[in-house]
Amino acid sequence: MSRSVNVAIIGSGVVGSAFINQLNNLKSKIVYNVVYLAKNTEEAIFSPDYSTVDLSTYATTSTGKPLSLDDLVKYLKASGKPTILVDNTSSAAIGSHYPEFIRNGISIATPNKKAFSSDLAQWKDIFTSEEQPGAGLVYHEATVGAALPILGPLRDLIHTGDRVLKIEGIFSGTLSYIFNEFSSSSPSDVKFSDVVKVAKQLGYTEPDPRDDLNGLDVARKVTILARIAGFEVASPSSFPVHSLIPKELEGVQSVAEFMEKLPNYDGDIQKVKDEALAEGKVLRFVGKVDFETNQVSVGIEKYGFDHPFASLKGSDNVVSIKTDRYANPLIIQGAGAGAEITAHGVLSDAVKIAERIAV
Ligand SMILES: NC(=O)c1ccc[n+]([C@@H]2O[C@H](COP(=O)([O-])OP(=O)(O)OC[C@H]3O[C@@H](n4cnc5c(N)ncnc54)[C@H](OP(=O)(O)O)[C@@H]3O)[C@@H](O)[C@H]2O)c1
Repeated sequence: MSRSVNVAIIGSGVVGSAFINQLNNLKSKIVYNVVYLAKNTEEAIFSPDYSTVDLSTYATTSTGKPLSLDDLVKYLKASGKPTILVDNTSSAAIGSHYPEFIRNGISIATPNKKAFSSDLAQWKDIFTSEEQPGAGLVYHEATVGAALPILGPLRDLIHTGDRVLKIEGIFSGTLSYIFNEFSSSSPSDVKFSDVVKVAKQLGYTEPDPRDDLNGLDVARKVTILARIAGFEVASPSSFPVHSLIPKELEGVQSVAEFMEKLPNYDGDIQKVKDEALAEGKVLRFVGKVDFETNQVSVGIEKYGFDHPFASLKGSDNVVSIKTDRYANPLIIQGAGAGAEITAHGVLSDAVKIAERIAV
């Protein structure tokens, strides 16, 4: 008889819908019974007898409102089957419920950064809960670099006794694109504000580009990496984060006004770029965890033309991990965003969990 596992999915947005499609087409000896699907904050599909949700017709089906998180824990636990909760939202409220799910034996696979990059107490609650007998497992590879294998290899190095010296990387596809276009090894007068404008037009930025330019998303990813590596970061606002939003524009209300005024500040960043070029370097927006100097930071750094970060293309992410074993750093590079890629990262985690818990 086939082994099986119950699955509950929350969210069917950009990543969630790609995940549902990939799960629906998954070829596996393990049977994945989707017993709960909260399509969004308004509509869900589930039944008291845990009938399997048909993933090929979910878009046009609904059985009513989603359960509250407390009721969802009870519903999933009462099935008596090993269960994976797939959280494809960016909800902090769902994230803060993870310890409750985990203590009740429900495993988690998610690209949602919130729970792992907020207060340190929440991080500790999640991972101490995971250590209890009968607890659920937690896999969150897609919270940093989408499906790029970063967290798994980093944890493997640490678990096998390696010592992390430094992690640095380009963790935002949007800021990767902006700096790759803005600063290269050949002199150019391309303006920073023009690159931001094009990135917005191409749909690479958030609807409000300030949500990328403020560096907070990178700070959350760096917080996660730092904590895995053993650096007890209190929160993503507890270390220096260089915002690319000019101080004078911080109070600007509308996106349109911000975009209109951004060109007034091109001169400042152009000067930094020109100085770097004169030194044979390019600018990149980087997150760093440096155990040698005991510092975590996010901001603009300069790299020589022959450095792997200097030759990055498009919106790729890259991370360099320097350890005792990898004195010549381990470099992991590739697309770090996108619906299909992120969904595949989450599904791979769900498969890893299922292989461990399915009965
Ligand atoms: N897109 C990427 O390339 C990428 C890459 C790496 C990681 N991620 C992460 O993946 C996650 C999902 O991103 P996305 O781009 O798919 O976002 P999205 O398109 O905004 O989708 C989020 C979905 O979650 C639903 N949702 C939110 N809170 C909910 C709740 N309490 N109960 C039920 N449904 C809820 C939303 O429903 P409503 O419409 O009702 O709010 C929406 O359907 C985020 O954590 C993001 O940071 C995304």
